[in-house]
Amino acid sequence: MKKVFLALAAAILAFASAQEINYITGNRGSDVDYATRKAQEYMADHPGVTINVIQGPESATDRAQQYLQFFEAQSGEVDLFEIDVIWPGDMAEHLVNLYDYAGYNEAAPDFFPAIVANNTVDGRLVGIPYFTDAGLLYYRQDLLDKYSLSVPTTWDELTAAAQTIQDGERAEGNPDFWGFVWQGNAYEGLTCDALEWVASNGGGEIVEVQEDGSKLITINNENAIAALEKAASWVGTISPNGVTGYQEEDAREVWQSGNAAFMRNWPYAYSLGNGEDSAVAGKFGVAALPMGSGEGARNAGTLGGWQLAVSKYSANPEVAADFALFLTNHENQLDNAITRSLLPTRTAVYEDQALLDSGSAFMAEFLPVFQGAVARPSTATAPNYLQASQYFFSAVHSVLTGEEDAETALALLELDLESLTGFPTAQ
Ligand code: GLC
Repeated sequence: MKKVFLALAAAILAFASAQEINYITGNRGSDVDYATRKAQEYMADHPGVTINVIQGPESATDRAQQYLQFFEAQSGEVDLFEIDVIWPGDMAEHLVNLYDYAGYNEAAPDFFPAIVANNTVDGRLVGIPYFTDAGLLYYRQDLLDKYSLSVPTTWDELTAAAQTIQDGERAEGNPDFWGFVWQGNAYEGLTCDALEWVASNGGGEIVEVQEDGSKLITINNENAIAALEKAASWVGTISPNGVTGYQEEDAREVWQSGNAAFMRNWPYAYSLGNGEDSAVAGKFGVAALPMGSGEGARNAGTLGGWQLAVSKYSANPEVAADFALFLTNHENQLDNAITRSLLPTRTAVYEDQALLDSGSAFMAEFLPVFQGAVARPSTATAPNYLQASQYFFSAVHSVLTGEEDAETALALLELDLESLTGFPTAQ
């Protein structure tokens, strides 16, 4: 009788302490599989905790819209969110201050200070850096060798090399072969690619914070116009017409089936490209994206990356915060780096011998490229970044599809940004 009573009491206690959280992850590559594996590991060590993994939309733009719907309804349906590096300013009011939760004050100094600063809004840490990202150039080493070419360092070199390889491969009987694939759909990914073209051509960073802290709209300039004209010239020549509908996974599909000489993408495509089902495994390398030719030309990969953030409307914020800390600990960042080539946000992981001995060793070599990545103007335009980016990628998209010429598109964009932000323009 006593035994039964004890068992019953234990069951009641377990039920009372049972905690369930919903965690929304991405939809690219192995996002869901990895999140599920980590949730299982955590649950095995925390009986009474249930973590449900929800698959978010693939496009960052769609994901932001979905999150905002949860927030506007003050819904606790999702407890833990992966948020993009550009969202802290726009979403801060709906997220808890992680410094109020166990372990965060101790952990924060181990992460890249620039990302912690990015995720700190009015002194509140609204996201713990999960992984970072930077745009890279993927190139087919075997094809460069075949055509006696070297890795392009300028966009003009890339254009010429892509054309040479495309002509050669088509002549050899592959009509589906393309020179260069990238992200041209009208969404956040295009903001990333286009910022790279513009910034690398000396065309600035759309909206910039000046030394005195004031902000300036700089996008309407000659170098930016020239950069967009060049990108538009790729559509239908070295890139398929359909590139204006491509997101990351579309580009990766063409690349991984062996049908592109060059690809612009994030580091996640590295380990997938070397996977068993990939036609390009062992045949490619990565480099910094090319530079433009305008005055002030430089290498410019856009800074990306994801943070873990806990909803203010969650019924179990302690559990969500603790699971986020687990996902971002050294061991798991190492796992993410080695198995999925996602860039760690803890400095020490880059020096871990296990990383240096793995197929993801390129990360250590590229650390300067990643650290020099160009930020989108999310801090400068917060809390209106999502709208500012939408204006930007829509303007760029209209140039790529030939609906608008670059000069007109950027003049109109400047007006839109002016009325959205009230900031002055550069000229
Ligand atoms: C990657 C980046 C993210 C960016 C997105 C655009 O996920 O990490 O910062 O906004 O791509 O598609």
